[in-house]
Amino acid sequence: MRITVQGQRESFSSRGQQTLLAAALDAGADWPYGCRVGMCGRCRCRVVAGKTQALNNYEPVLTADEIEQGYVLACRAVAVTDVEVSSSHIDELNAAREAAHRATVHAVRDLTPLVKELQIEFTGSAPVWEAGQYAGLSVPGLVDARNFSFASACRGDGFATFIIRHFEDGIFSQWLTRDAARGAALTVGPPNGQYHLRQIPDPLLCFCAGTGIAPVLAILEEIVSGAFSPRQCRVVIAARDKAHLAGLDRLQDLATRWPIADGLELVFVLSRQSDPVPDALHGHLFDHFERLVEGYGNATVLIAGPPGLVEATELGLLKSGFHGDQLITDRFLPAWA
Ligand SMILES: Cc1cc2nc3c(=O)[nH]c(=O)nc-3n(C[C@H](O)[C@H](O)[C@H](O)COP(=O)(O)OP(=O)(O)OC[C@H]3O[C@@H](n4cnc5c(N)ncnc54)[C@H](O)[C@@H]3O)c2cc1C
Ligand code: FES
Repeated sequence: MRITVQGQRESFSSRGQQTLLAAALDAGADWPYGCRVGMCGRCRCRVVAGKTQALNNYEPVLTADEIEQGYVLACRAVAVTDVEVSSSHIDELNAAREAAHRATVHAVRDLTPLVKELQIEFTGSAPVWEAGQYAGLSVPGLVDARNFSFASACRGDGFATFIIRHFEDGIFSQWLTRDAARGAALTVGPPNGQYHLRQIPDPLLCFCAGTGIAPVLAILEEIVSGAFSPRQCRVVIAARDKAHLAGLDRLQDLATRWPIADGLELVFVLSRQSDPVPDALHGHLFDHFERLVEGYGNATVLIAGPPGLVEATELGLLKSGFHGDQLITDRFLPAWA
C-alpha cells in the first residue's frame, strides 16, 4: 500500500502487516515515535484519506474524540488501502526534539549482578515527569534512543534515577559499563507514557520483576512525598533470589516512611532459595496468586517489567475477576521489538 504524508512529495509503501511507523522508518522518513508498542502516543497521526486497521485498541492513549477525528497510532496501524496522513506530526517531532534535555552522569552503582542504577544530573532545563513515565536516553554511538522508566519521582532538584538491566551485547548497556563515568554526557527525551495514579485513594497492587521495579519506586516515592493521597499498597516482586532483588533498600526505606502505618506490604516471590529472605514465598507467582490478590479486588493494579510477566499477570488478574480498566501495564520491550 502507498502511504503519503500530506504536503510532502515523497511517499513510501508498506508490506503485509507492516505498520505505518515500520514502513516510514524503513523508508528513512523522519517520523516521531517513542515506545513502538502503542503506549506513548508519540507516533500519532491523522489519516485524512484511505483506511487502516488497528492491531490493538488505541484507547486510552487516544481519546474517543481523537479516534473519531481519524487519529491513529502509526506503530499499531496497518494500511488496508493507500492512505494519506496529515503532516502535523512533523511539528510534534520538532517540538519533541526541542524538548530533549542534556544531562551528565552523577553516579552508577550495581544493584544486582545484572542491574545497575544510573543517577543523572540535568545540565540545563530538567523535564517534568509523572511517576510511572519513561524517557528515551541517547548516548554517543546509539542510533535509536533506549527507553527507560524514571525510577525516582520528579523532585525538581535537577536529578533523575533509572534502573537498567545489563545486556552483554546491548549498546546502551555497554556504554553504561564502559563509558558512564561521572560527568559523561547523555540526552534525555521528553517523558512519555500514560501511567499515573488517580487522586482517589484506591488501594494499589503492584506486580513487578527485574527492572520493572523502576516505575513502582517512582510511584511509591510520590505517594510518600504527599503528591498522592495515602493508600494501602501491596508490592509483589518476583525474582530469582535475594541477590537479584533490585531496589530492595529503597523499598524497605519507603515502607518505613509510608503515610499509613504498616500500609505498604512487600511480598517477595523467589524461584530459588539460595539466600533466605524472611517471609518470602517460593516458586512461581501463579503458585500463590490467590494470596497475592487477596483483599485487593478493588485496587488499581500496576504491572511492570518483561513483556511475558506482564501479559501472564494481566491474564491471571482478568481470570480472577479484575476488570481491564483496573490494570495499568508497563511492558519493557527491547528497542528492536
Ligand atoms: C516503556 C518502556 C520502559 C522501559 N523501561 C526500562 C527500564 O526502566 N529499565 C530497563 O532496563 N529496561 C527498560 N526498558 C527496556 C529497554 O528499553 C530495552 O531493554 C533496551 O533495548 C535495552 O537497551 P540496550 O542498548 O542495553 O540493549 P539493546 O542494544 O537494545 O539489546 C538488547 C538485547 O536484544 C538483542 N537484540 C538486539 N537486536 C535484536 C534483534 N533484531 N533481534 C533479536 N535480538 C536483538 C541484543 O543482542 C541484546 O541481547 C523499557 C522499555 C520500554 C518500552
Ligand atoms: S511509538 Fe506509537 S504509541 Fe509509542
